[in-house]
Amino acid sequence: MNRIFSGIQPTGNLHLGNYLGAVRNWVSLQHDYECIYCVVDLHAITQWQEPEELRKSTREVTAALIAAGIDPKKNIVFNQSQNPDHAQLAWIFNCVARLGWLNRMTQFKEKAGKHRENASVGLYAYPNLMAADILAYKGTHVPVGEDQKQHLELCRDIAQKFNSDYGVEFFPITEPLIFGTATRVMSLRDGKNKMSKSDPSEYSRINFTDGPDEIAKKIRKAKTDPDALPSEAKGLEGRPEAENLVGIYAALSDKSIEQVLAEVGGKQFSEFKQMLSELCVEVLGPIGNEMKRLVAEPQHIDAILRDGADRAREMTHPILEEVMDIVGFVHPLKG
Ligand code: AMP
Ligand code: TRP
Repeated sequence: MNRIFSGIQPTGNLHLGNYLGAVRNWVSLQHDYECIYCVVDLHAITQWQEPEELRKSTREVTAALIAAGIDPKKNIVFNQSQNPDHAQLAWIFNCVARLGWLNRMTQFKEKAGKHRENASVGLYAYPNLMAADILAYKGTHVPVGEDQKQHLELCRDIAQKFNSDYGVEFFPITEPLIFGTATRVMSLRDGKNKMSKSDPSEYSRINFTDGPDEIAKKIRKAKTDPDALPSEAKGLEGRPEAENLVGIYAALSDKSIEQVLAEVGGKQFSEFKQMLSELCVEVLGPIGNEMKRLVAEPQHIDAILRDGADRAREMTHPILEEVMDIVGFVHPLKG
């Protein structure tokens, strides 16, 4: 049976990259599969978070998922810390994964920067917890943006090593699901950098909560080159900013890059940017409004998270019990 699991960090504002790379795909998968979507607060604290901000972001991200169209009754939506099985399995995986594997993780290198010695141990072990998130449910497919590919390869390595060390066929070898025309949305200020929550410039990203004027202003100020838009995809080569904006337009309008260029080839960026702003407002506007409405009722959000966590624990409990048996822990259900 296919089981979809994915996670998103409650750190700051959700942006267009999160939407096109992940959340939009999560919404479409829920019609055909059993889906578990987790707000990963344990991952968030691998870097410092103000406690009140973390609580607020956890509720905001949950609201965003629901506003984007995820049905929390049909699927499971919860915050990671409410299911302790994730952390327990992560410890076991800390003992399965090798230092050499983690040393290769590019996201750790990017996040730790020059101050590696000062990074938290949690930031280093982050991918092991991510593997535990997925495998605690025996997740088979994980929809994410391109930046998570390496972490998912590690998850496969962990599953394989666990299975072979203990001589079992227990954990599935999880497949990443990276699809759509915008699996890596770039910053509006620099087409070589990923759009990210942690970019200090607000003009680098479009947030779920931005109103029409903010969206229009950010797109107007987006970096471009002086040439007109090409009419074929090869005309985008070596023009990362143009490629990014066309990619965003294609994803938002559910068209291919070629279709978009056939429409807008020859236009100046000023005109194209206006078309792009209108499209962004059309797609993100209703989500942002619904999100604001939901955030105003935190008790409702908390009840959704609690219900999701109860159902999540019911799923992971039997799996964790089997893991404890396999590893050789003495526990109440085993003589
Ligand atoms: P994060 O905000 O790092 O928790 O990421 C949540 C999800 O959004 C993950 O599946 C990421 O791969 C995806 N994502 C984040 N930034 C981008 C981006 N700039 N382009 C495409 N997908 C992204
Ligand atoms: N590391 C992911 C990110 O930053 C978030 C995440 C945590 C995740 N656990 C996961 C994604 C499990 C998919 C599956 O985007």
